[in-house]
This record gives sequence, structure tokens and C-alpha cells, in this order.
Amino acid sequence: MELFIDTANVEEIAEAILWGCVSGATTNPMIMSKEKSGYNFHDKIMKIVDLVKNPVSVEVTEESVEGMVKEAKIYASWHPYIAIKIPMGIEGLKAVSILEKEENVRTNVTAIMATNQALLAALSGATYASIFYGRVSDMGYDPTEVISQTAKLYRAGNLKTKIIVGSIRNMLDINKAFLAGADIVTVPFKFLKAMTQNLKTEETVKEFNGIWKEMKDKGLIHLDVVEKRISPSLTLVGKSR
Ligand code: E4P
Repeated sequence: MELFIDTANVEEIAEAILWGCVSGATTNPMIMSKEKSGYNFHDKIMKIVDLVKNPVSVEVTEESVEGMVKEAKIYASWHPYIAIKIPMGIEGLKAVSILEKEENVRTNVTAIMATNQALLAALSGATYASIFYGRVSDMGYDPTEVISQTAKLYRAGNLKTKIIVGSIRNMLDINKAFLAGADIVTVPFKFLKAMTQNLKTEETVKEFNGIWKEMKDKGLIHLDVVEKRISPSLTLVGKSR
């Protein structure tokens, strides 16, 4: 189970990476269009790779097989962490097959709305298959069904393709996607941040720190706060309790 960040915003990525729970990033042309104009595409992607130090998805925009393969090879040559998003479709599958089997380029088949499409992506050799949760819902279908059936089929066929769920529209989507069988959910920063917050948590921490301060202020507790070196042999890490 992994969380990716679904943005090209360097400040957001830099912040989220510090939390230690984000292990990849995904972009697409729409996401790139949200960044302040005038930037150099290569430099922005490399900055993201440098921050994430894990897979970063970059999408092709050419529509022919030859065009997609050529564009993919250019982006993939920038860094081994770069995975190439290829839109689902006949041309896309052909490009995936060439890139994965002949060019040693990792692909992420994107804009998947149905289990049939996810199955084809995996059989063509894609490293990742991206199911679009919000857009499946927009069509009136249940995205959790698409995810769970895909996960079941991948297991049954021993297919190694990882299911990424994107197009997240609220926090509940994230939980439901994982529970349905997503390997990875890629989440916009605003929802990642919202996941950390809970009013009852804030109230509880305030209550605990408040009572501690009161005890100190009133001299009800004597604190000898010094850092001690613990012998590695005494550590509990790795030992059963
Ligand atoms: C992620 O890989 C997708 O490109 C992204 O989440 C799509 O989200 P949208 O449906 O909000 O455009």
C-alpha cells in the first residue's frame, strides 16, 4: 500500500515528502497547466524527481504509436524514476507493449474507467494501471467495483501490474479505493493535508499539553530533561514484546 501525490506543485511536493508517507508523484497535462506559466518542463519534472526520489509519472501527448514511443523515450531518458503515462486505447496498448518489452521503459496506462481496460493494460505489460475514481463516478458507475474486480483479476492471473487510483475528489474516496484493492492512491495535496487533521485530535493534544504546562508552572512535577544515550543492545526495535 502506497500513497502518491497528484500534483506538479514543487512546494506542495516538498512539504508532503517530509511527512515520510508519500512514495511517488503523478502528473498529467491538466496538472501541468495549473502551474505558473513559463516554466521549463524538463526542469520542473527533474525538480520533482529530485524531491520525490521515487516513481514520478509523466504523460505523453502524442497520439500515434510512433509518436508516443518517441516522446516516452525522451522523458524516460531523463531519469530512471520516470514512469510514462500512456492513455488507454489501441494505440496506447501498442506503445506500452513496445516500451515495456523492447525499450525497458516503465509505463502507467492512464484514464482507465473499466475493468476490461485494466485487464488489457496488465496483459500488455504495463507497470501501473491508473483507474480514475472520480470520473468513473461521474458516469454513474461504482469505482469501487472497477477497482475490486481489477484487483481480483490481477490476483487470479498472477499479473504484477500495480493498481493506481487517481481522480480523487474527497477524503472518503481514498479509504474506499484502498479497501477495494488499490495498491496506490494518488492524492491532491489539499486532501493529503486534510487527512492529517481532525478537530478532536487538536482538542485532545491541546488538553494534554495544557495540563502538562500547568503541572510545570505550578511546580507539581520536577523535570530532569537531559538526553541519554541508550545502548543499542537495550533497544526494543525488532524484538517481540
Ligand atoms: C492521476 O494519475 C490522474 O491523472 C488524475 O488524478 C486525474 O484526476 P482528474 O479526474 O481530477 O482530472
